[in-house]
This record gives sequence, structure tokens and C-alpha cells, in this order.
Amino acid sequence: MINMNNIGVFDSGIGGFSILEKLLEVLPDENYIYYKDSKNCPYGSKSDEELLKITTDIVSYFDKKNVKLVVIACNTATTKCIRKLRELFPNIIFVGTEPAIKVACDRGDKNILVLATPATISSDSVDKLVKNNQKDDQNIFLQACDGLARAIEDKDDKLINGILSDILNNYKDKNIDSVVLGCTHYSFVKDEISNFLPGAELIDGSLGVARQVKRKLEESNKLSSNGGFVQIKNS
Ligand code: DGL
Repeated sequence: MINMNNIGVFDSGIGGFSILEKLLEVLPDENYIYYKDSKNCPYGSKSDEELLKITTDIVSYFDKKNVKLVVIACNTATTKCIRKLRELFPNIIFVGTEPAIKVACDRGDKNILVLATPATISSDSVDKLVKNNQKDDQNIFLQACDGLARAIEDKDDKLINGILSDILNNYKDKNIDSVVLGCTHYSFVKDEISNFLPGAELIDGSLGVARQVKRKLEESNKLSSNGGFVQIKNS
């Protein structure tokens, strides 16, 4: 099953399954290797050096399997490492996942809340996304959610609700129009987030990532016409 036709997908655990689900919808005939790096979860509190080492090891694994494209199904790894990974592995096509700040800004929302890991929030990429997309009348609140991805990975409902309550209660009076889910793990707690901010639209970039993968495969003439297998590799 491991051959040139595989697409490699990775995240620090279950978060990237939200991207994989969309990939299977948009590209059902592809074969996927999902690298579930739970051992190193959470990525979001690691240093840049640690993240580069972890992600380089994973991409080296995919490189040895001759994958045709790597999807970084993780905002933290994308915002911190994708540029260096592209330099280190020039023969691999990469598609990353970044907080969908542009989508929220283009919708014309006035008050936008971006939830992501501490590493993503402090990244230059998020800074650029804000500078390039924010309009004069828009407020963008950048909120690091320390510990949330790990709590979701552990399915610790009490901790998830405690963290969300500490964070989201601060935004109840801010007329938040949209919440950008800037961490792939957060897609699994959409209902819980909506309980705190019922009027806000939740924006999840996973469909955009899947469509971008399709475009890249079309451009490079590498689309598969049969497959649909998913293989999970645990760290
Ligand atoms: N799911 C990842 C993201 O999108 C990483 C979460 C973590 O491990 O901290 O940022």
C-alpha cells in the first residue's frame, strides 16, 4: 500500500483528523498515511528548535516512503516550520494549515476572535495574516489557549470546559462575529465553543486545505484515480 501514490498527513495527535476528513471528501481516491504524533503533543508549547526537529523527523519518514505530497495538518507546525521544511525538502510538495484569518476578514466581520496555541499566536505568520487582511473597522483578538489541545487529545471534558470558560467568558461582551479555529484540535470542541459564544460563526480552514491539496495535485499531474486507503502511523 505504501507507494508513490500516498499523501502524508501529520499533526500532534487527533487534531489533523479534521483535515483528513475533508481530504477524504474532496479527494476520495487518494491513499493517505496519517502520522499521529501524540507522543510529542502538545506542539503549541514547544520551542521553535524543538518543533523543527520533530517536524523534520516526520517529513524524513514520509520522504523515505516517497510520498507525493505532505499535508501539515497543524497550524503550529505550519506557522513555525513550513518555510524551513520547504528548504530542507525541496522535492516534496507541502500544503500547510494556517488560521483562516483572511476568510473572517473577507466576510467583513467586525469583531474576530482567533483561538490558537501559544506558538501559533506568537508566530510571524499570524502577525502577517493580520497585517495583510485586517480592515480599518475590524478588531482581531488573538487568544492563546494554553493546554486546550492537550486536554482535547486526552478527551478530558472537565479540563476542556474549564479552559474554555476561563478564556471565552472574557469575550461575552465583545460582540464576537466569528471565531477562527486556529488549531486543528479545536474543531472537535465546536459545540462547546458555541455554548459560550452562541452568536459567533465558527471558521475552520480544513475545507480550504483539502481544496489546496487538490489544486497542487492537479497542477503537478499527480492525482490518483483509485485508492481511498488510510494508514495510521503512531509515534
Ligand atoms: N493541532 C495542532 C495545531 O493546529 C497542534 C496542537 C498542539 O499540539 O499544541 O496547532
